[in-house]
Amino acid sequence: MSGRWGRPLVRLDACESTNDLARLLAASGLPEGATVVARTQTRGRGRQGRVWISPEGGLWASLLLRPAVGAGWGRLALAIAVAVAETIEQAAAVRADIRWPNDVLVAGRKVAGVLLEGVPDAIIAGLGINANVAAEQFPAEVRDRAGSLHALTGRAIPLHPLLDTLLDRCGHWYTVWGNATDAAVREILEAWSDRDAVRGQRVVVHGVSGDLEGIAEGIDGEGALRLRTPEGTVRAIMAGDLVPVAFAQVSGETGRSTPSGV
Ligand code: BTN
Repeated sequence: MSGRWGRPLVRLDACESTNDLARLLAASGLPEGATVVARTQTRGRGRQGRVWISPEGGLWASLLLRPAVGAGWGRLALAIAVAVAETIEQAAAVRADIRWPNDVLVAGRKVAGVLLEGVPDAIIAGLGINANVAAEQFPAEVRDRAGSLHALTGRAIPLHPLLDTLLDRCGHWYTVWGNATDAAVREILEAWSDRDAVRGQRVVVHGVSGDLEGIAEGIDGEGALRLRTPEGTVRAIMAGDLVPVAFAQVSGETGRSTPSGV
């Protein structure tokens, strides 16, 4: 573990959500880099209010960030996603793709997710990696879309080195994000775009103001999804969740109440 990341490192057997603990650490004045990690979470949460199933075997962690300036929330979400993808690539020797904004996929299955939450004077980055979660532990309705590194590679992934790599990669990409120079912005956008899992695909975006269908055309400079609508215009979507259309049609799944966040 290097630098200020993981200092202090709070390790727990179980908690409701590491993000909640990290919030308390933020409120008590702990510095940037403080990290909470738990073997299991009883009320793990994902984006858009979903449940995040967090049994033993996964890496469930929250990092306390105290950015000096807002260098763009959208791009922070992308930078952290790249950090998680690189972590998985290094730890499991597989290619990891990213589905906007920050779902990390291996072989088309979601293996990791990122939940950024703003609190006074801090941002909590909640990171969940399905490292050694068994397929049966995923709820039946997401079993065909969720994956774990163990199930996909046939190898157990040691969690301590995985956390070390995660902290190292998050530290690196957070620094790049904080630089906010043109070159740094380009670096994030390129690293993210190299792993874009849905570019050119027809998708449904479940956004704050309803569902939108179109063709995903990558991201813009702020990290917004470029969505070409059936009318031919390109809309920049800053927040939402994305489901490939084929999936939405087959399962009737809206994605909003999906357990496990996949
Ligand atoms: C998503 O893809 O919906 C985001 C999932 C984020 C899960 C992690 S696990 C550690 C941290 N604590 C939580 O309750 N959630 C995040």
